[in-house]
Order: sequence, then C-alpha cells, then structure tokens
Amino acid sequence: MNVPVSFRVSALFCVLFCPRMAKLQAVFSLRHMLVMSLALNVGLIMRMFPDSDETLANDAVEAGVNSKRETHVVQKSTTLSGVNSTSADRPGRRERVINLDHGDPTMYEGYWRQMGEKTTITIPGWQSLSYISDMTNVCWFLVPEFAEEVVRLHQVVGNAVTEDRHIVVGTGSSQLILAALYALSSPDAAEPISVVSAAPYYSSYPSMVDYQKSRLYKWAGDAESFNKDGPYIELVTSPNNPDGLLRRSVVNRSQGLLIHDLAYYWPQYTPITSPSDHDLSLFTVSKSTGHAGMRIGWALVKDRKVAEKMTRFIELNTIGVSKDSQLRAAKVLKAVSDGCQQGESSFFKHSYKLMAGRWKLLRATVEYGGLFSLPQFCPSFCTFFGQETEPQPAFLWLRCEGEIEDCEGFLRKHKIISRGGKHFGGSPKLTRISMLDTQETFLDFIERLSNIQQIK
Ligand SMILES: Cc1ncc(COP(=O)(O)O)c(C=O)c1O
Repeated sequence: MNVPVSFRVSALFCVLFCPRMAKLQAVFSLRHMLVMSLALNVGLIMRMFPDSDETLANDAVEAGVNSKRETHVVQKSTTLSGVNSTSADRPGRRERVINLDHGDPTMYEGYWRQMGEKTTITIPGWQSLSYISDMTNVCWFLVPEFAEEVVRLHQVVGNAVTEDRHIVVGTGSSQLILAALYALSSPDAAEPISVVSAAPYYSSYPSMVDYQKSRLYKWAGDAESFNKDGPYIELVTSPNNPDGLLRRSVVNRSQGLLIHDLAYYWPQYTPITSPSDHDLSLFTVSKSTGHAGMRIGWALVKDRKVAEKMTRFIELNTIGVSKDSQLRAAKVLKAVSDGCQQGESSFFKHSYKLMAGRWKLLRATVEYGGLFSLPQFCPSFCTFFGQETEPQPAFLWLRCEGEIEDCEGFLRKHKIISRGGKHFGGSPKLTRISMLDTQETFLDFIERLSNIQQIK
C-alpha cells in the first residue's frame, strides 16, 4: 500500500500519542493542547527541513517511519495497521525501563540484515593460525586487506588524509587511546604527563587514564581550565561525545600533544567538511558501521616512532588484534565503499536518513513542551553528500529546564536511564541519551518523553 509520506508521519504521531488524548483532554490546559497539536502538525515538521537538504530530508521523514520495518521486531509493512500493531500491542511497553545509557549501535542491525550475504565471511580452520600478519609493516599484526579497506573508505568518504600515515589497528579505539597515551608519554619524565579534554568530555576518559594509576600519565580534567606549564596530552573529540559539537584543541600551547578521537566523524552524524589531517587520529567500526562487538578500531599516525610505540603497547597488552575480526571488518568496510561507489543502498545515505528521521521526531516532541531543550546545530556543506546537511549526533545532550536540577534523576523516575552531565565534567541539568538504539526503543523513548511533558 502506497501511503503518502506526510500521511504516514502524521499516522505515526497519532499512533504514538492519540490514544491518550481523549483521557488527557480533561486535565489539559489550552497550552498543553496547543503543544500537542503543534507536535502533531506534519506541515510544521516538513518545514523544519532546510530546502537545500530536501532530497535527504524527505527521505529522512520516510525513514523515521519506515525503519520500523527494519528491526526484526517489526515484520509488517508500513501500512497504518503495521505501525499501529507494533507500538501499541507490546505488553508492558508503558512500564518498561528504557535504557539509553550506553551508545550501543543496535540501530544499524536492520541495514546489515538487509545486506545479507554481502558481509558474510567464512574462515576455514587452517586460517589465522599465526600471530603475525605482515612483518614489513610497522604494525606487524595489521591484516593487509583491512589496511587497504581503511584507506579506501577514507578516500571514498573524504574524512581523513591517509597519505604518509601509519595505520595501527586496535581492539576497539579504546585500546588505541591507551596505546596513544603510552606512546606519547615519556618514561624518563619527572612526573606523569597531564591528560586533559574540554568538558563536557567522553565520560570514559578519566577512568581510562587513571584506572591503572600509571606513572606515565594522569588525568588532569577540563582542558578549558588547565593552566599548568610543561607538556600535556589533550584528547580532542570531534564531533564530541556527548554534545555532538565539532572541536579543536583548546589549550593550544607549544608543548601539547594531541590525540584526535574522530569516532563520530562520519556523514550520518555530521557534515564532512574536509579530510581530517592530524598527527594522531582514532577511528572505530563501533560508530562508523555499528559493529561495536567486532572490537576493531584504527589509528592514523604521522610519526613512525609513535606508531612503533603504539604497536609495542598492543603487543605487550594482547599480542596483536584478532585477525578474524580484522578480516570481518575488511569485508564490512569493503561493502560500505562498494555501496558508496555504486550509488545503490549506500550505508551512509541509509544511516543519515535514519538519524535524520529520529532527530526530527525528537525535535517535534520536545521543542514545544518547555520542559526540556535540545542543542541547536548549524548546517554546513557536506562534501560526501554534495549538499548542505545538519549535524545529527549519536547522542542527545538533553537539558532539563526550570527547577529540575538533576536531569538524569528526573528521567530515571520516569524509567528512562541516561548518563548525567556530571560524568562528563558538566552540569547535572544535562544528561546524555543514546540515539543509536533499536527503532522500537527509540519510539518508546519518544512516547515516554511526550507523556512526561503532558503530565507536567
Ligand atoms: C568518543 C569515543 N571514543 C572512543 C570510544 C570507544 O569505542 P570502541 O568501541 O572503538 O572502543 C567511544 C565509545 O563510545 C567514544 O564515544
């Protein structure tokens, strides 16, 4: 059944919100009704798309609805009854705890299911016996097929310079962060080198840096207030986790060593404005393709000595990185690059539309309620899509307005689990919510947010 896009969007809103409307009418003030009718106004939602972004944006609205089809929970088509039966009929949905604390990228599962055999690999029993992959490479455990696909993907997407760079593979970019800290610090220094990052910073940095109580490096907090003389390491996360903003180093002193964590510098999250060109950059399949369970990340490193030290760290730590995972990652990256070059079912186009659909639904739900506020982003020209796009981060950095001082605690009372601002060196008035969960969980979250605003 071919239901027009605008009708399907309004249908989805009705499915999500209308069953409660009759009951709520009695307690609603005129303002509440206005809020709800605005949230239901599809025309308004459509107008929220910038003109220049029309193709991707129109597709995105459709994706916000259609992607239900792609979770295996939802098997029916996008007819109204198909949408209706999934959201409304699940028992216990209103009471369920909605856990959006972690950035678990399960929203990508539908796409990879659709790709079927394209990314399936068979590894015979005789393969991957040796620890070694290529002794001529600085990173001797780096599987050549994986290295080739890393270079190719960066060229296709245009998000990083790979010429004159050494690739170091890691068990996730988490291992590479530690490898980089090890490589950039000096065992002969009089005291541990300070590690800083501008708040709000990725909540794992402080514990990653300090949990081993290393004598090489120590966490020194918010880069904005760092005023100690001497060498330091700054972690620059761009786009940033939790707030999605593009970042540059903020300390900006001569003895600074920079680690650029570019886990989210991919077109579904932010416009690709130019290829990143830093001394040490980190990427991961966890956020680029959604394969967090594969545990594969990679570093692009300018200085050979730094790449050698990082390799040494991983050698001491895990004697290399799973070859099976590298082969699987190579296959996935190849499928992504092939898809982009052939123009059909491009992973990034698909993911962009999914994320755009989610952000539009979120804005429509939150912005007229007054209880919460969302960050605003400026569109830029994305060289990958060849048009202006808006940032649509992997996390929602939600602010509770008015008297609510503990946003995480407030949401927890409504059975939404998020990660409070304090974990990121920020204010408890803010909390981080993953935008990467399944469509089912995301829609339950939207419905819960809407209900909270009606109760208030
Ligand atoms: C900014 C940032 N860096 C690194 C990581 C770790 O990623 P990986 O799964 O590759 O270890 C994450 C995971 O959420 C992240 O958000």
